[in-house]
Amino acid sequence: MKQNENLVLVGSKAVLVPYKAEHVQAYHEWMTSPFLQEMTASEPLTLEEEYDMQRSWHEDDRKCTFIILGSKTGAPLDKPMTMTDIKNKTVMIGDVNIFLNDCDDDLTFGEIEIMIAEEAYRRTGYGLEGLKMMMAYALRELGIKTFHAKISMKNEPSIRLFETKLAYYPVSCSEIFQETTLEWSLQQPSNDDEGYGAKATAQQKQACQALHDSLMDLWTTGIDTLEWE
Ligand SMILES: CC(C)(COP(=O)(O)OP(=O)(O)OC[C@H]1O[C@@H](n2cnc3c(N)ncnc32)[C@H](O)[C@@H]1OP(=O)(O)O)[C@@H](O)C(=O)NCCC(=O)NCCS
Repeated sequence: MKQNENLVLVGSKAVLVPYKAEHVQAYHEWMTSPFLQEMTASEPLTLEEEYDMQRSWHEDDRKCTFIILGSKTGAPLDKPMTMTDIKNKTVMIGDVNIFLNDCDDDLTFGEIEIMIAEEAYRRTGYGLEGLKMMMAYALRELGIKTFHAKISMKNEPSIRLFETKLAYYPVSCSEIFQETTLEWSLQQPSNDDEGYGAKATAQQKQACQALHDSLMDLWTTGIDTLEWE
């Protein structure tokens, strides 16, 4: 989408920048990894197809993507940061996306995906912070109220991340695709309703609300915004 085409979000460790053509070559190299293809359920693309994909994510109003950067040393960021600091002191480590793909065009729904492609940066908090920053942005600026994450049943790290750190709960499971769907929702439908949020227990609803409140705090006090140059 165009909405975040020049938006840079600076957290405590991670920086989110819009996905630009200059990122495509490195992204393409990541996606030659059979492990990342399997974990993200992605098909390998040619470099040309990857450029087309980058253009489509930029132009399609239903797709929001950011590249995740981490500091070259892996240390927390020295804030405040300028765009020059970001260019000199950080490297590309992954990406985070939201796809507004509800079948009835409910624009308050988004499917969220995360990848920390650089192995050295995994299990050091970047995935969690990248997701929190993206969720805060989507809640505040895109009007999203429900997220789904579709995760391979083999991907224990990702399932744990979403369930234990971000209050997602399972709502369905596909034996054919060996995939579980986790949900996070602020919607409060009645129990006999089938909509988003209907499968959440009272405790799960409370946990989503608590996370929402902490994400709103993060948005106002923990994330700096800059314009991409
Ligand atoms: C899954 C993934 C996104 C996790 O991101 P990360 O930056 O490595 O994870 P974080 O350091 O932010 O970890 C946050 C929490 O996630 C869970 N987690 C992350 N990695 C884990 C692992 N290897 N084993 C078990 N739990 C793990 C833990 O609960 C962890 O909290 P803790 O460190 O306090 O125990 C990352 O490993 C990744 O991108 N893997 C490859 C691609 C992929 O699987 N993408 C997800 C597709 S749905």
